[in-house]
Amino acid sequence: STMPAPHLRWQALEVDKDAHAALNGHRPRVLWLTGLSGAGKSTIANRLEHELFAAGVHTCVLDGDNVRHGLCGDLGFSDADRDENIRRVAEVAKLMVESGLVVIVAFISPFRAEREAARALFEPDEFVEVFVDAPLDVAEARDPKGLYRKARAGELNGFTGIDAPYEPPQAPELRVDTARLSPEAAAQVILDHLARTGLYA
Ligand code: PPS
Repeated sequence: STMPAPHLRWQALEVDKDAHAALNGHRPRVLWLTGLSGAGKSTIANRLEHELFAAGVHTCVLDGDNVRHGLCGDLGFSDADRDENIRRVAEVAKLMVESGLVVIVAFISPFRAEREAARALFEPDEFVEVFVDAPLDVAEARDPKGLYRKARAGELNGFTGIDAPYEPPQAPELRVDTARLSPEAAAQVILDHLARTGLYA
């Protein structure tokens, strides 16, 4: 027959957020992961996407190292360039949320003002700030790319946590302590929060 599936409700013939949510079976979200280099943002983002994908959730990961090759390939690490980096990423996340996705954003995003500006683009329940928290000495000991070593040796200037600031969130929706939690456990904290706060409503 030509009857639409019962869970599809077309509203005013517009493919809006509610229409996407009805088709997808979940609401859109931004999971905004912020923290030092080496805190575990990318690892947790990948784990999260893997778990959400397995649950049938439509996702996209925006990750600093990748986005800085394309969309933000013209930007460096001055305060102004970091601000512009985060501004663009927030606007892209906004477009993706309008398309119904769960967007996993993994950038240092060191400045509170830019994170708050990102938050302001979304409905209150859409934006989940996750402080991926590891003490500097733990992140530095991991040093997956050898960048802390270079920064300490004076071969790299303006490195976050060494000679560039990181402003920790004051009231994030979630904080995961990656010195104590495995990436799997940290991802689970975020998944539990999503389920509790209406991802599937
Ligand atoms: S920001 O501050 O949000 O715009 O940074 P982001 O886009 O997340 O990029 C961080 C990654 O870039 C590498 N890198 C630096 N990080 C911090 N400071 C300086 N000066 C720097 N230069 C290069 C570094 O590998 C970061 O990777 P992650 O994944 O965070 O460890």
